Amino acid sequence: MTAPKALVLAGGEGRRLRPLTYSGPKQLVPVANRPILFFVLDSIVEAGIEDIGVVVSPETGPFVKQAVGDGSAFGARVTYIVQDRPGGLAHAVRCARSFLRDDAFLMVLGDNLIGSPLSPFVRAFQEDPSTEARLLLHEVPDPRRFGVAALDTDGTVIRLVEKPADPPSNLALVGVYLFRASIHAAIDELTPSARGELEITDAANALLSAGKLVRFDRLEGFWLDTGKKDDLLLANETVLAARLEPARLGHVCPQSLIEGTVRVETGATVVRSRVIGPVILGPGAHLEDAEVGPFVSVGAGARVVGTRVARSVLLEGSVVAGAGELERCLLGKRAVVRAAPDASASLVLGDDCEVLLPRG
Ligand code: G1P
Repeated sequence: MTAPKALVLAGGEGRRLRPLTYSGPKQLVPVANRPILFFVLDSIVEAGIEDIGVVVSPETGPFVKQAVGDGSAFGARVTYIVQDRPGGLAHAVRCARSFLRDDAFLMVLGDNLIGSPLSPFVRAFQEDPSTEARLLLHEVPDPRRFGVAALDTDGTVIRLVEKPADPPSNLALVGVYLFRASIHAAIDELTPSARGELEITDAANALLSAGKLVRFDRLEGFWLDTGKKDDLLLANETVLAARLEPARLGHVCPQSLIEGTVRVETGATVVRSRVIGPVILGPGAHLEDAEVGPFVSVGAGARVVGTRVARSVLLEGSVVAGAGELERCLLGKRAVVRAAPDASASLVLGDDCEVLLPRG
């Protein structure tokens, strides 16, 4: 049985993660010091798919290409496809037509993390040629924000609705789909939705209207959309808790205390500090008189001095010094948070930054 291809969507503006996305795509923002997109590529390769098309926008393309290369680091062959405008998920598939040809394919959003392997989902589709599409669904508290499926008792999908005011179930489309070549004709018939996009939900619905069989699987593990600060911090916590492998490759001084699962990468230094896992310290990171953790990712070369930091993501080269207690922070590359010389806060903030000061 030939494996399907995969299509990963890595375009988009990343508006909700500004200012981080002014200097790079949202799919490359790291959790546990690793770009989200890398976890997505791993899960595709683990499902036995090596031929991967990555859809990029003109803005994200150069960054994604530099980070992912030809895909060999992931055991994959990556072909890049440029989507010239944010025209929707079905528009992305249309742009990828010459890559996909008439092959079956797995489509995955490049900024979503999924806590279960994709292989059973892919295998079930391969073994059931009567299904024209297979969808991954997850129970959510507020389905109105997503594409939602109405289901039959025999395990098939009856109808799909995008962002319904009155959801037919609480099962949301998580943005992981399997299609056959029939989806292309359905996409060719689409007209733009109210938000001006070609919706893949509408295309899958057209398959149903034409009497085709669409099945689903329920995603039992976690589903994390990392497109916003709080979701990204939650993804960081989840990945650190589930996947961090402890190691002590850098230097930890005898006056420091390491508790729980902690990974100290090569060249990282821990001086007179307490580290409460799960925590990852990237290459060349430096802690001094600090208390770091739980759930903190410290990027390469970042420094934490005389500060307590919990539940945060500090990107490479960022600095936190004499800053009291920080929790739930997301610091971009080379961002600096340090003690002011007097009692009032003094800030230099770029566009679209947000600072939450403690009540005082
Ligand atoms: C898209 C899909 C929606 C799906 C969601 C998952 O929505 O259109 O059906 O539930 O991804 O994240 P968007 O994020 O474009 O609003």
